[in-house]
This record gives sequence, C-alpha cells and structure tokens, in this order.
Amino acid sequence: MTNYRAGIVGLGGIGAGPLAAQPVHPALGIRWPHPHAGAYAVQSNVEVVAVCDLVPELLDQFRTTWHDTWPDVTTYTDYREMLDDEQLDLLSVVTSDHRHAQISIDAAERGVRGIFCEKPIATTMAEADQMIAACQKNGAVMTVDHSRRWMANFHAAMALLGDGPLGAVRRIVGSMGGPRAMLFRNGTHLIDTVCWFANSEPEWVIGQLDAGHENHPPRYAGDGGKDSALDPAGSGLVQFANGVRGFINCHKEMATPNHVYVFAEHGRLLVDNNTAEAFIVGENRNDVLRRVLPVPHTQRGDTPAAIAELIEAIEQGGIETISPPQEARKTLGIMLGMLQSNAADSAKVRFPVQDV
Ligand SMILES: NC(=O)c1ccc[n+]([C@@H]2O[C@H](COP(=O)([O-])OP(=O)(O)OC[C@H]3O[C@@H](n4cnc5c(N)ncnc54)[C@H](O)[C@@H]3O)[C@@H](O)[C@H]2O)c1
Repeated sequence: MTNYRAGIVGLGGIGAGPLAAQPVHPALGIRWPHPHAGAYAVQSNVEVVAVCDLVPELLDQFRTTWHDTWPDVTTYTDYREMLDDEQLDLLSVVTSDHRHAQISIDAAERGVRGIFCEKPIATTMAEADQMIAACQKNGAVMTVDHSRRWMANFHAAMALLGDGPLGAVRRIVGSMGGPRAMLFRNGTHLIDTVCWFANSEPEWVIGQLDAGHENHPPRYAGDGGKDSALDPAGSGLVQFANGVRGFINCHKEMATPNHVYVFAEHGRLLVDNNTAEAFIVGENRNDVLRRVLPVPHTQRGDTPAAIAELIEAIEQGGIETISPPQEARKTLGIMLGMLQSNAADSAKVRFPVQDV
C-alpha cells in the first residue's frame, strides 16, 4: 500500500483538532473526526510529516497533541519552505477564508498531488481561476471542503431524485441561521448544497444583503472569517440553466440550523446536517407519504471520507472528486454575484460573474 506524506497549513481548531473521544455511543458507534489532523490520523496509509502556521505557539501545541501519533512531525512558519523540504503528496489548506489561493497554487506548482482546500475556495474569481489552472497544469487533484458532499444523509436524499420516486428537481430553498450565517464563512456550505442539488450552471443571481449592509462593496470585504460584522448574511435567488431556481436565506438572527428543502416533480425533501426526510405525493395530491430516510450510523464521517476520496482520485490518475474546484467556483460566483447585485439595488447579475 502506498504511504502518503501529508502536510497541513493553518493550525486552528479545524486544522489541528484531535480525534473525538471514543467510543461515543454504544449503538451509534464511532464519531469520526471533523478536523483535518484527526481525519488524517484515521487513514492507515497517511502520515502527517509536516505542519505550518504563522503562530509558533500553535506549532508547539500541535507537537504536544499529536506526539503519540506523529512523533517526527516537522514544524514550519513558512509554508514555502515546508513545500520545498518535504515532498508532500497531500496538503490541507486550512488558513483563513481569504488565504487559500496562493498556498494552493504554490503547492500544485511544487508537485503536491492532492490539495484539500477549505471552503470557500477563494474570495475572488481570479484567484479561483488561477487555482484551477495551476492544478490542471501540474496534474494536481483539488477537493474543496464543502463538507455536506461527504455526508450520507445528503446522498440518501439525492438517491430519491432524478430516476427515483421524487423525479426532477424544480426549486430549492436553503436556510441557515446563527452568527456564522455569513456568506463566505458558512453560507458557502449552504450555497454549495443548493448548487449540488441543482446540478446545473448558474445563469443569473439576485442578492439582497441583510439590514446594516446596504453599503457593502460589490466584492469580498471580510477579514478571513473572524468578524461576523464584516461578512454579511443575506438572501439570494439563483436561476440555473436547467430551469431549477435556488432560494438562499442566510440570516444571523435566526436560530434555524443549516437546512435545505428540495421541491421536485413528485414531492419534496428536507435535509439538514444530520437527517433527511422525504414527502412523496401520491396520485391524490392530498395523499403524502412521509419517509424518514435511513442514514448509516457507521458512515466514515465527512473529513475522513474527503481525504480517502482524494487519495482514490490520485490513484485513479487524477479524476475529479465529488467536490472539485469548478463546483466551488460556482458557489463563489453566486456569493460575489449577491454582493454585486446588492450594490446595484438588487439588479440581476449574469454569469460568468467577473471581479469588480
Ligand atoms: N469545513 C468546515 O466545516 C469548516 C469548519 C471551520 C472552519 N473551516 C474553514 O477552515 C479555514 C480555517 O478556519 P479557522 O476558523 O481555523 O481560521 P483561523 O483564522 O482561526 O485559523 C487559521 C490559521 O491559519 C494560519 N495562517 C494564516 N495564513 C497562514 C500562512 N500564510 N501560513 C501559515 N499559516 C497561516 C493562522 O495563523 C491561523 O492559525 C477557513 O477557511 C474556514 O472557513 C471549515
């Protein structure tokens, strides 16, 4: 079995976090780790050989937390030095939202074969294009951590669409509440889910940001995801080329966790972070069959599944993962389109969205 040399840049909680305490539940089984370090630790064919952060204390903390698993890990404060020294096969880019692009490009150019980039892919279209071009030119596979793409309940729901009993998707309504319902921080997860279910190219978007952001510039103006006030929530309407429309509602003063309603020819689905329910309409339109969809309790977990899939994609000669950068680029276009639309009194913004 090939052994993969992995590195992580960015050692906040989601980058460096440990395994969840186990066992978690006698019936539900293992709770798989969500952070990158924990997810690498459960892959038998990966060793984290190097990590990097600008903050030296986080390097010390990493060494302490992970000493028993990776006693020989080398630490860096300069990721370029790490790339030059370590011949990494895999790199997790877990820096703040607006610091993904150059690190990913440098990694592809220095021969890293699999890049696991946190969401959102980037904060400008130009950056996303450069990242995609660098991966294509150098034969690197990139996967973007829009985590729901590796969650079994979303797959259980999707299996009922298309040729399944619910038929074709027509409308999608996605909602997300709480202080992190900021467009770029967590709205990106919701919008990616809408794009995934729509399974088409966005044609235009209309955006209306929430109160207090009337004068938000038509471009990203956040600080990387820390200050919720700098990354607005808002509502959006997206038209896809196949006729599907997506309605997006991010609102910070709403308790609703992330959930998505998918309205299809023969009924609807409700999917949240843990469950999926289908409501199938019979011949008599008042006759609705409600089904809670069974979701395997022993699923691998989103981040370990993403890493395993990335390795598989490399081994199969560089095929796309379920969350390729081109998909993440759609979501970025919708978010930037919402900002541009809001700045133009909610006018329609047509794709391809350009940086302004
Ligand atoms: N998929 C998920 O569920 C999920 C959950 C949380 C966070 N995230 C994403 O993960 C990323 C990190 O989030 P966070 O909350 O840990 O952010 P953070 O700002 O707390 O941590 C980022 C770390 O990256 C380091 N860093 C920044 N630039 C660097 C550079 N050039 N070289 C080396 N280190 C650098 C910083 O010092 C910091 O320690 C964000 O993109 C965020 O959106 C994803």
